[in-house]
Parts: sequence; C-alpha cells; structure tokens
Amino acid sequence: MDLLKGSHIPQLRHCWYVAAWSHEVPVGKLHGITIIGQPVLIYRKQDGTLTAMADQCCHRHAQLSRGRLEGDDVRCMYHGLKYNSSGHCIEIPGQDDIPERFCVRTYAVQEADSWIWVWMGEHDKADHALIPSATGPDDPRYHMRSGHIDYQANYLLVNDNLTDFSHIAFVHENSFARGTKDTAVLQPRVQLLERGIRITRWNRNQPSRHNDPLHPVADVFMTYDFLVPGVLLMFTGSYPAGTAEAVQLGSPGEREPFAATFTSQAVTPLTANTSRYFFCWGPRSEEHKANPQIIENLWQLAHIAFEEDRQIIEAQQRNINLNTNAPVLSITHDRGPTMMRKVIERLHAAETGQQ
Ligand code: FES
Ligand SMILES: [Fe+2]
Repeated sequence: MDLLKGSHIPQLRHCWYVAAWSHEVPVGKLHGITIIGQPVLIYRKQDGTLTAMADQCCHRHAQLSRGRLEGDDVRCMYHGLKYNSSGHCIEIPGQDDIPERFCVRTYAVQEADSWIWVWMGEHDKADHALIPSATGPDDPRYHMRSGHIDYQANYLLVNDNLTDFSHIAFVHENSFARGTKDTAVLQPRVQLLERGIRITRWNRNQPSRHNDPLHPVADVFMTYDFLVPGVLLMFTGSYPAGTAEAVQLGSPGEREPFAATFTSQAVTPLTANTSRYFFCWGPRSEEHKANPQIIENLWQLAHIAFEEDRQIIEAQQRNINLNTNAPVLSITHDRGPTMMRKVIERLHAAETGQQ
C-alpha cells in the first residue's frame, strides 16, 4: 500500500472535527467550511447557540454561507429559498407548496475549549464524550494566542509532521531548534492510546528563547497526545540544564519547570488534498504577567516555524502529485507517524465495516 497517495487517505466520519475558533463565528455571521469533502455551514442563533448544516442549498446547490441570516433562519441568496435552523426549507419565493424533501442535513456541533467541533457522522450517532479535552485561549492558566493556516496538502502529511519532531532539527534549524539537534538524535517515547498516541521527549541544552539571564540554556521536556483526526495537545516545560540526564530522559515527575507553555493544535481535512491547521500557543499566565514579551517572542517564532512546515509539506505534496511511483521507505523516526496512521486505519475500518 502506498502510504502517501490520495486513494489511501482514510477520512473518518465518526469523529469530531475542529471547524473554527469560537471567535470566528460571532452571532450574525455565516461561516462556511469544507470538512472531509462536505460543505458545512455554521452559525449562531440569536441566543448564541450553534447550528451546523450542509452548506449546499437543496435547490441548485448554491452555498448557503453566501446567503443572509434572517433572525435564526438563513436565506439562500441565489433564488431565495429560506431554511430554519433545523435545515428545513420554510419559504420558496413564488410557490406556496414546500415539499417535505426540501431540506438540508444537519450536523451535531459543540463548542468546547474555544473551538467549534462538528461531528461528521450521522447527527444522532454523535458521541460527545469523544471530543478531546483541549486547553484553549479561554483557559485562565495560560495566556494564549490563536490562528490558523490553510495547507495545499492532505491532512496525513501534516499529521506525519506533528507526530515526528525529528524534523525540528532540520526544517526549523534556525527557529524552534536554534541549532540544537536532540529532536533528531534522541528517539521519543511513543505510546499507543485508544484514539491516538502519546509522545514524550527531551531537547537538551536549548538556548533560552527569552534571553533569560538565570537560565541561558534549558533542558526542554515535551509531552503531547495526538488524537484523531489530528488534534495535538502539548505541554512543554523548561528545566535547568542537566535535568534530562538526571531523570534518565524520562518524565521530570514533580519537578517544577522554570518556564512552561501549552499548545493545542488541530488538523482538519478540507478535501482529499487540502487541510486547515488550527493552533494556539502561550506561556503560563503568571509568566506572561511577569514578562509580557514572552508571548510576542513565541508568536514571532511560531509564524516563522509554521511557515517552514507549510513550505516543505506543500512541496512534498506537489512531488507526490507527480505520481513517480517511487517507493516510500521508512526510518526509525517514522514510529509516531506510522502508529498514528494505524490508529486512523483501524477506526476507519471499524466504521466502514472492513475489520
Ligand atoms: S440555489 Fe438556493 S435558491 Fe436556488
Ligand atoms: Fe514543524
């Protein structure tokens, strides 16, 4: 099986997908997004509760997100069909009779941790317990900023990147890595979870990002869960140099990091070969209070590094699109990406009955 080709890119339906940051969908705005090839419209009713339905008018398939909100209803601005928030057509201009089949499907939608999540399977099968517990900008423990980037690449290539940090030493040589090589030299610990994997690793003797005179270098411990479809939840702690060796490259346990950040990220497949990458990142609130410059430094760094990722992954996708039929070879650092792809394959097989 060719791991990279479009025909082998499983997309789960029984899964919650990040569709937007909460603030991207204020009351009064129609938000359209394509998720696993399905056009989805999201908006808030006047009481602030969310609704999600197909972004495709049942008449001639115009996008409802280009339409107009009228109270809690949405009007298609092509020929004027109007839908209520349950997706039922309630008005056809110039026609009194509205057949039952004039409706669009709805999706289960839920807001949690500053994200708007949409369940892409049948509405009544939505399992709210499967929404990963993220840490978002609304969490008082951290001071975060958020954003998103669109990729001209399939989501598994972005997932591969996020489950193998060995690329940091090369792609981010001058940004995240700052010349350190540990992400490539040391193998991370990778553990299988029910719907993802857990990765822990150290990056030793990393130069301070904040020109901290007390800690010019740090041993940086990263621990994250990576969950389907592509949700990354990572705590990063900076410890005095030498800590990694002292704990034999294991968990720092109860030791208190002198600096820490959290990042929540989510990769949402838009189509087979495009995806949207949501991210937030920031220091602990007390560190931000003591030094507001930290968030500026982190954000500047993130923009440089995320652009570095986008460039190499999109170019990788363009190569894959050439269909050269060259084989894909594996190295030890592929353990995270391979395990994560297997989790997705297993869940996909279970939902399509191909176990
Ligand atoms: S396409 Fe929507 S009213 Fe015709
Ligand atoms: Fe990266």
